Formats: sequence, structure tokens, C-alpha cells
Amino acid sequence: MSALAAQATATGPDPYDVVFDAVADSQPQLVLEVGSGTGELAERMARNLDARVIAVDQSERMVDLTKQRGVEAIVGDVQNLPFKDGIFDCAVAAWMLFHAENVDLALRELRRILRSDGRVVASTSSQRSMSELWELVGQVGAPVDGFTAENAEWSLLRHFTVLQRRDIKGTVTFADREAAYQHVKASPRSDLAEQLPYFDEPLVATRHVVVYVAEP
Ligand SMILES: C[S@@+](CC[C@H](N)C(=O)[O-])C[C@H]1O[C@@H](n2cnc3c(N)ncnc32)[C@H](O)[C@@H]1O
Repeated sequence: MSALAAQATATGPDPYDVVFDAVADSQPQLVLEVGSGTGELAERMARNLDARVIAVDQSERMVDLTKQRGVEAIVGDVQNLPFKDGIFDCAVAAWMLFHAENVDLALRELRRILRSDGRVVASTSSQRSMSELWELVGQVGAPVDGFTAENAEWSLLRHFTVLQRRDIKGTVTFADREAAYQHVKASPRSDLAEQLPYFDEPLVATRHVVVYVAEP
């Protein structure tokens, strides 16, 4: 799931600002974003950093949407990246590693394509994030596993040295069912979206996401 559905409003720091700042801080020349989705972050990096940005997503549709933003994008799997060893200054994996079937394989690939002095910026959500929303579709907490705030550090430590962990907490308000529906639809359990009941009042959900900065 993305950190925030388009039609929702939020309090607390913007997680995408935190990711962007962590990338910018390393003054990269060549950036890879894996699981780039619609390409919003990739476009922001391409426009605002003095860097070449390449986006990879396994979905052709997402790659097309990213290209429409003028960003270089290709279809690919984070577990088997079509790049040579040690070429990227920075690899970004924003709210996507919990989709990978094999997180270890994905992290090994990210390490392989990074320069020895490069960095990975990876973000994910807590399993308890937006539990008020997930309870509405019969879940105890967010339906994510494999790479969550509760265990991501251990996964990263098998491949990287973790330099920073930034916990970002706040609330997200879904104005109506449609906004909440879009959020569930973008999650690894998109099938649950149909179970979302109608609600009259805006839904306020507590958010807890984490951004890691790690180096080989
Ligand atoms: C929840 S979205 C996050 C998109 C974007 N990073 C963001 O934060 O808004 C996850 C994205 O990862 C992509 N994805 C899932 N598994 C992938 C894989 N194994 N390799 C590459 N992309 C993948 C999906 O197609 C989707 O676009």
C-alpha cells in the first residue's frame, strides 16, 4: 500500500518527504527506484535532484504511468534486476518490499546493484498502522508481512548496515469510503477492498510508518 491514498488527508510528517530527503542527502548521480508505482516519487527525484533516475516496476501499467511523467522506467522484478553490479549510488524501495515473494532475494539484488559507498532507502508500514481501517475489513492490523516495521531491520541487517531508522507517526483521515477503498485496493490484500462497509463520518486512522537508510 502506498503511505497515503490520494484522497486522504494526514497529520504528522509526510513520509515521502522523509524518503526524498534521505535520498537527496547522499547527493546521488544515479538513482534506482524499485516498485515505483505511478512514479510520483521518481518524478520528484528526477526533477529536483541533479541525478539520473531509473524506475522499475513489475506492472506494465505502472511503468507506462511513470513514463508519462517523463521518467525513465522499465518493467522488472526487484528480485532479479536487469542491471550490472555496483552501479547505483542510491536505491529506493518505498512501501514495496512487503510485496516481494522473497525479501532476502530482493535485498540481495539491491545490494548487488549498489556501489560499495551507495545507500538504500527503504520504507514500510507497521503491522498496526491504520488498524482502524483494517478492522473494517475483518483484519487485525495491516495485512502486510515479510518486511514490516516490526521485522524489517532484521531483514536489512542480513545484507546491509542500518544507519538510520525514522519512525513517522500521525493520523490519516479518509474523507469517505472511496478514499479508504483506494487505500485497501493498493495494498497486498486488494481483494479486501470489496468488503469495506459504507460509512458516513470521515474515518480517522492512526498511521505508523518507518524509513530506513542503510549501506552495504
Ligand atoms: C504499494 S505500491 C508502492 C508504490 C510507490 N513506491 C509508492 O510508495 O507509492 C507497490 C508497487 O510495487 C510494485 N511491485 C510489487 N512487487 C514487485 C516486484 N517484485 N518487483 C518490482 N515491483 C514490484 C507494484 O506493482 C506496485 O507498483
